[in-house]
Amino acid sequence: MTCERYMAMTPSDPAVDPATGPAFSFGLFADSHYAEKVYGNRHCRDSLDKLRDCIADFNARNLPMAVNLGDSIDAVADKAMELRFLAAVREVTATFHGERVTVLGNHDLVTLTKEEFLRLYGAREPAYHSFDRQGFHFVVLDGNCRQDGSDFTPGNFHWDDAWISEAQMAWLARDMEIHRNMPVIVFTHENLDDRLWNDLPDPHLVRNAPAVRRIFERHGNVRAVFQGHHHDGPCATLRGIPYIGSAAMVVGPGRENNAYAVVSLESDGAITVEGFGRHRTLRIAAPSRDA
Ligand SMILES: [Fe+2]
Ligand SMILES: [Fe+2]
Repeated sequence: MTCERYMAMTPSDPAVDPATGPAFSFGLFADSHYAEKVYGNRHCRDSLDKLRDCIADFNARNLPMAVNLGDSIDAVADKAMELRFLAAVREVTATFHGERVTVLGNHDLVTLTKEEFLRLYGAREPAYHSFDRQGFHFVVLDGNCRQDGSDFTPGNFHWDDAWISEAQMAWLARDMEIHRNMPVIVFTHENLDDRLWNDLPDPHLVRNAPAVRRIFERHGNVRAVFQGHHHDGPCATLRGIPYIGSAAMVVGPGRENNAYAVVSLESDGAITVEGFGRHRTLRIAAPSRDA
């Protein structure tokens, strides 16, 4: 199933069913890639203004949580300059009034280690973790590992050879078992669904994604997986689990090409993703009670 096959919404549609209401809403953005440069369709230098608009909107809506799906900064050769860009992104995102959730992206690790990025950005460590809010269990994954389970480190990884480590898989399986009776929402930068790219597996996919999906599918309680990394934000539904891609904030010039979303988790299990700028809007129906 592609994004277009979810129920399309027009701007005049109510974002949330008034009969059920949102149980929990949060802000979502991906791939800001901030740096003082432009290459291809990536207008990295415009991302600070886009981020300011995004965070101001989240604050105006009194959202309790904002999720950053990774690739906050873009690569530059000089580490000192990279640190200045990271500080600038942190300064803007720190103006958010609620809780900040950060997913690591491959671009965050071109000159910085995971520990450096997370500490300097003020993000929770380790990069993979989980937490409960308002009756939902949220899982943050880290796809920035090599096949042997070691971390991506500066100069020692390829973006298209990303894995979820065995240690993280074991942790995930235990975490999902413990929370088997709660609805689960997953955040990841590298993608965990399944698609082709020029007749080969899409390099935006984690290499061992099928094994991760089998863990998601064990208890029937994963409501959605939100993904960054693929800048078009493709979507898929696999074995009843929606994998929702976020359009990259960095694509396109100027504030008019912003991309972010407000996600509303409704009490009946439906999910609304209200997109702003280039981010798509979609609604995922509540799970069938007959299933
Ligand atoms: Fe990216
Ligand atoms: Fe990425």
